Amino acid sequence: MNEVGAAYLADTGFEADLEEELRRAGRRIARWHGQLALTAEPPIPAAWSLDTWTAPQFIEVGSIKTAASALRAIQRNWSLYGVLHHRRAALIQDALPPVKAKPLVFPERAPTSHLGAWTLIEPGLMLASATKTSPFVNGQVAFVEDKEGPPSRAYLKLWEGFTRLGVHPEPGQVCMDLGACPGGWTWVIAKLGAQCLAIDKAPLDPGVVAMPGVSVRQESAFGLEPAKEQMVDWLLSDIICYPARLLGLVKRWMEAGKARNYLCTIKFQGATDHDVMAEFAAIPGARLFHASHNKHEVTFARLERDIP
Ligand SMILES: C[S@@+](CC[C@H](N)C(=O)[O-])C[C@H]1O[C@@H](n2cnc3c(N)ncnc32)[C@H](O)[C@@H]1O
Repeated sequence: MNEVGAAYLADTGFEADLEEELRRAGRRIARWHGQLALTAEPPIPAAWSLDTWTAPQFIEVGSIKTAASALRAIQRNWSLYGVLHHRRAALIQDALPPVKAKPLVFPERAPTSHLGAWTLIEPGLMLASATKTSPFVNGQVAFVEDKEGPPSRAYLKLWEGFTRLGVHPEPGQVCMDLGACPGGWTWVIAKLGAQCLAIDKAPLDPGVVAMPGVSVRQESAFGLEPAKEQMVDWLLSDIICYPARLLGLVKRWMEAGKARNYLCTIKFQGATDHDVMAEFAAIPGARLFHASHNKHEVTFARLERDIP
């Protein structure tokens, strides 16, 4: 292909989801380079893209030195998406200024330094984009993990959600965590110093229940009447349920006006429900993304500050 308008990086195993999302938006993938989907048209927001290259250009590679110089002439910070020609790509990378990609210590903020991305398409041809949507190398958000505190690994996707949004619950704020068992998300909220009302039909880990600010109601999240609940700063949901059922629940909370901010996991069993995803995306102020810690699911977020 002569021109690339945008390149979208799919997470492993979610290439077909990205392809379908782009197809629905009128974008055709001209070719795949590993998990990077190249299209001729300008970039669009894509939930199934971990990282979107928004200004890709082909650069001919003479020698290792000239390749590195060409990138350095554009800007300082570059990250490699390595698929083919690994040895040659590593030599070019070594000739570039080092980019620190240390795991984050949550709630540390995402890096703010400008980062581009490049890859070797052929030994003599690179694709490079000075701009991309994720400040992380290949959209992968790495954290210094806590192997003792949280009772499940689900806390990582909540950490990633808050990190990507650049905002999280603050001390004094009230959160409702729907589908909270065994308590990874509730643990995150309590550690941030916010109040957490955890709702699940199943009991939570006793260590989490004992944390300051945590209260529990053992019942179904679908039985709640939002109008009768207190105002919450954050409505969080990691409930296992059909996406359409979650959409109904979120809409009921919005109609009641009882939550300022939302962060919910839309989980898919079997095929991805692209129609319901589109309905979530149509909510004013909605953000939809498949985070690097998400499984077959996407995160829906809606922040008070984004509401038009
Ligand atoms: C993936 S787990 C949540 C993990 C949790 N976020 C964590 O960090 O440990 C999904 C939870 O949804 C709960 N769930 C399913 N249906 C529910 C309902 N109607 N109301 C409340 N919780 C429900 C399940 O009991 C299960 O604990």
